[in-house]
Amino acid sequence: MADTSTRPIDEHSMHTHTCGELRRENVGEEVTLTGWVSRRRDHGGLIFCDLRDREGITQLTFDPEHSDGDAFKIAETMRPEWPIKIHGVVRARGEETTNVKLATGEIEVLTDHAEVLNTSMTPPFQIEDGIETSEDTRLRYRYLDIRRPEMMANLRLRSDFTFAIREALHNRDFMEVETPCLFKSTPEGARDFIVPSRIQPGNFYALPQSPQLLKQLLMVGGVERYYQVAKCFRDEDLRADRQPEFTQVDIEMSFVDQDDVMSALEEVLADAFGRMGVDLPTPLRRIQYWDAMDTYGSDKPDTRYGMHLVDLTDVFADSKFKVFASAAKTEGHVVKAINAKGAGTWPRAQIDKLGNVAAKFGAKGLAWIAFREDGSMNSPIVKFFSDEEMATLRERMDVEPGDLVMFAAGPRLASDEILGGMRTHMADALNIEREGHDFLWVVNFPLFHWDEERKAYAAEHQPFTLPTESDISKIEADPLAAGSFTYDFVMDGFEAGGGGMRIHNADMQMAMLKLLGFTEERAESQFGFVLEALKFGAPPMGGFALGLDRVCMLLAGSSSIRDVMAFPKTASGSDLMSAAPSAVSGAQLKDVSLRLM
Ligand code: AMO
Ligand code: AMP
Repeated sequence: MADTSTRPIDEHSMHTHTCGELRRENVGEEVTLTGWVSRRRDHGGLIFCDLRDREGITQLTFDPEHSDGDAFKIAETMRPEWPIKIHGVVRARGEETTNVKLATGEIEVLTDHAEVLNTSMTPPFQIEDGIETSEDTRLRYRYLDIRRPEMMANLRLRSDFTFAIREALHNRDFMEVETPCLFKSTPEGARDFIVPSRIQPGNFYALPQSPQLLKQLLMVGGVERYYQVAKCFRDEDLRADRQPEFTQVDIEMSFVDQDDVMSALEEVLADAFGRMGVDLPTPLRRIQYWDAMDTYGSDKPDTRYGMHLVDLTDVFADSKFKVFASAAKTEGHVVKAINAKGAGTWPRAQIDKLGNVAAKFGAKGLAWIAFREDGSMNSPIVKFFSDEEMATLRERMDVEPGDLVMFAAGPRLASDEILGGMRTHMADALNIEREGHDFLWVVNFPLFHWDEERKAYAAEHQPFTLPTESDISKIEADPLAAGSFTYDFVMDGFEAGGGGMRIHNADMQMAMLKLLGFTEERAESQFGFVLEALKFGAPPMGGFALGLDRVCMLLAGSSSIRDVMAFPKTASGSDLMSAAPSAVSGAQLKDVSLRLM
């Protein structure tokens, strides 16, 4: 990270030093500082003031006996958040007044001249770390929020990481190419933001959900190694790790196979994370999609803790508990369980609430057994179990007193997802220690999933993904079994990036679009320009996009991507500072030939 202590004096600024810079070695020097009044304390005759800029805080001392008391008189009028400029001499603080919490805590500046550069209204919250102010208020006054050291540190971390990955890419011959934001619908599966055209009434641009199609065209154009720190726009429901407008470090390479792309990405990521002091061991672990689902119930598993999913289907084939027996007898259905160690001591009422949590992940019910510390069991279902079933269960689940075993019975993928959701929930509820960062690839996602709403197959990643060679025959016969050349970069249990190899053959691409329910006309009208480009000697290609906001959130140890974005939107998509989105005038609507319904 930037070492500010060695920052040279900036000739083009009003100050000689920053507020985070002065140390014991500077004692005796004359300095000029600028910044905001953070705290002012009147101490019987002396005034102490903390001066803050983005680099830190320096204590100023104003003495009425010093230099005719000119500076002191001004200090008496100063209020929080006024920007000021001062001149003075650095002096050592006594041992008892040293502030060990501040990098500048050993010194203070005895001020002989002060100049008020502006005044300020009283801020709606304290400009300091650890405030309890509502996030809405912080977003309404984001420019004040950004003055707080922890927010400033987040923005700096983001700037440093963005610079690091740019440099890592640049050093490996990747070329940054900008692509337009006023474009056409791109295929990431979310809803588009659309922009009406004034010059062509009735026609619209779509803001790109990612530069996916454009980067493929850059490969056809021979760019060979592309990257872009790209804004992406997706009109979808917001969550802590989702914003309608976010940033990807978008990457694409040509004349490569999947291993080439993944190795190149690992080098770039290890380099960029390394510059942030974070070790990313290469080669990164790779987990097959189906194995990740089977063991963790998630395609973005956090592997820093166990609580693995255990298959018990065979145990319950003849069980008296009908829910399990019927799942065990049904093709494609399973009985699986996880063991949340420590939750077995929870009171019944607390355990019962877990059923509602499981319901959020799609569960119809959540069977459980609490193994109490005194050796007894509490459970709505054990009465149905034979001794043999119970013994096998204890062994497979590695049961000890204090454990809570939770079950899901039903279709395999749905059951995995329920238990995967419960695994994450329980890890948080039990405060399971997760040390350091966890990096891995999840590879070979299915090509399609079944879209219940549209009653059709949908692309799992996006429709330009290359199917696994050996699975091409399955595409029509058993689409859900077909795999793809895809890889997600998983960091600390989050999908921090994703990519894949692309189809570079126009016929295969058209066949794929048809399988996804496109008519030839619709495929042509939406993607005709790509299909055409593929016919002009498109090279083999593949790439990746890193979710910059998510990575920075995890590096900052934060739980929301809003914390690493300067001006994020609320869950309802509003910018609270400018009150966007907002109505436009009738004239503006008329310009673009629109009338509101
Ligand atoms: P994908 O849709 O997986 O892939 O996006 C890549 C990464 O972007 C991040 N991300 C988001 N971050 C914040 N808010 C959002 N709404 C949001 N949506 C996605 C995630 C995700 O892993 N074109 C492909 C990439 C490729 O194949 O090369 C793509 O966009 O971290
Ligand atoms: P029931 O026999 O339906 O009253 O269910 C008995 C227990 O099994 C309850 O605790 C239910 O929540 C749970 N349960 C019901 N269906 C399932 C299922 N598919 N998977 C796991 N547990 C279930």
